[in-house]
Amino acid sequence: MTQGGNGKEPIVQMEGVTKAFGTLEVLRGVDLAIYPGESLVLLGGSGSGKSVLLGILIGLLPASGGRVILNDMEVTAFRTEAEWKAVWRSVGFLFQGAALFDSMSVRDNIAFPLEIHTDLSRTAIDEKVARLLTMVGLGDIEQKMPSELSGGMQKRVALARTIALEPKIVLYDEPTTGLDPITSDTIAELIRELQTRLGITSLVVTHDIRLAFRVADRVSMLHQGKIVITAPLEEMRNHANPRVREFLYG
Ligand SMILES: Nc1ncnc2c1ncn2[C@@H]1O[C@H](COP(=O)(O)OP(=O)(O)O)[C@@H](O)[C@H]1O
Ligand SMILES: [Mg+2]
Repeated sequence: MTQGGNGKEPIVQMEGVTKAFGTLEVLRGVDLAIYPGESLVLLGGSGSGKSVLLGILIGLLPASGGRVILNDMEVTAFRTEAEWKAVWRSVGFLFQGAALFDSMSVRDNIAFPLEIHTDLSRTAIDEKVARLLTMVGLGDIEQKMPSELSGGMQKRVALARTIALEPKIVLYDEPTTGLDPITSDTIAELIRELQTRLGITSLVVTHDIRLAFRVADRVSMLHQGKIVITAPLEEMRNHANPRVREFLYG
């Protein structure tokens, strides 16, 4: 096992996590630790259970077994939604697709979590929305509707909304799906920037190898329900394991 974080306590720890749907065993004992400030990419083929794993991490799905500790809380011991509320405030989640509210302007989309979770004034929220737009590399587009934006811009707006409450960790589910390679690269750069400028810890779940090479400090591979390898990116590049080589280089 490769150590990640200079002796720091992990911000996410999964131990022996299992998940079955009826007789379908999707996760069969996942062990994973993510350390503060790092960018960990979880690679796995389509249908390997990446989104299920994220769903368990943020409480959208119950685990069948094992333990999950997130921000020092054992979330697998949670029994009520009230307990999850504190977690949802401190964890950002970027869903697959842009997942913006289509009938709401860019401003209202980004303001949404701030209106729900803070008591900031309207003026303060407007200022914050403008700052967030700058942070994700967008200008004065507050009044635009999502349908007026390109896929890459929608993704940036969704990311601005995700980081509005200043999460310690952001979970990305296939952030480049549906984007062309150049736009994907700019999203990868943005993920890196948020990590370096704001110190945000990232878990990036993807099957996009190009993205993995651009944003990972460490890479874990999910295969047949388990994490089969975790290693720093440089080690992964030259890994002798044939399964790793096949996944990375085809
Ligand atoms: N709510 C559900 N009920 C039944 N099966 C599910 C459910 N969610 C996911 N699965 C199954 O779990 C497996 C992993 O799915 P998923 O995590 O979405 O894969 P991916 O790695 O592509 O994100 C798939 O076989 C999928 O059909
Ligand atoms: Mg998925």
